[in-house]
Amino acid sequence: MNRIVRREEMAGGRMVLNEIEAPKIARTAQPGQFVMLRANELGERVPMTISDANPEIGTITIIFSVVGWSTALFKTLQVGDSYQNVVGPLGRPTEMEAVGTAICVGGGTGVAVLYPIARKLKSRGSRVISIIGARNEELIILRREMETVSDELLVCTDTGTIERNALVTDLLMEVLDRETPDVVVAIGPVPMMKRVSEITKPLGIKTIVSLNPIMIDGTGMCGSCRVEVDGQMRLACVEGPEFDGHKVNFDLLMERLQSFQEEEVQALEAHGV
Ligand code: FES
Repeated sequence: MNRIVRREEMAGGRMVLNEIEAPKIARTAQPGQFVMLRANELGERVPMTISDANPEIGTITIIFSVVGWSTALFKTLQVGDSYQNVVGPLGRPTEMEAVGTAICVGGGTGVAVLYPIARKLKSRGSRVISIIGARNEELIILRREMETVSDELLVCTDTGTIERNALVTDLLMEVLDRETPDVVVAIGPVPMMKRVSEITKPLGIKTIVSLNPIMIDGTGMCGSCRVEVDGQMRLACVEGPEFDGHKVNFDLLMERLQSFQEEEVQALEAHGV
């Protein structure tokens, strides 16, 4: 069983960190990969990108926001409780050669996915400039961790309660006025990743985004995670979740993500989690 050994509520309880016993996954997981979790036999399988892995003690860490019935069920689990299943690691690891300068842009829970990538870049000798943001200060996560893996960290909120009242994309444009990075990695809400890609495309800067489509099996069998990249249908679970941001059809992804919102609200009401 996959027991929870550490649980922290973040962002005023809107996000939850779970460190989970999963020794086999912890031994092989790499930045960019994800797991599929199920809370109990009634729960759905939910994809979560691995935020951290500790092969020595055999644990992986995930951070999630409560966005529907399944994640509301995850939030009820406490230290000592177990997930019914944790399957992984799934997806392709981040393909990241050592580069001179990388700009890592993260929004909301996307920072949890960005952190291991920034750490990997830093460990390979890259100069890492990170920009993280959220709606307000309470929703900024992993700030200290991002500081440790970044040569420069810029933090902003939409409401200006800390440092800068700006969007991460505003800060990105400021940094691009003085830097010519080899790569930009952007992970967060789809509109944010879309805007980052629009900014970097005319500048010819390689841009990697991590997509979060609806996933059911996570193994390439159901087709639910299809995304359009460079005019081709691709399966995010086996061919992603990271893709070239300049080639992703973000509008189609947003449309597909919105298609089950009503059912999510109904499920939350029906189960009363
Ligand atoms: Fe089923 Fe990707 S989640 S094909």
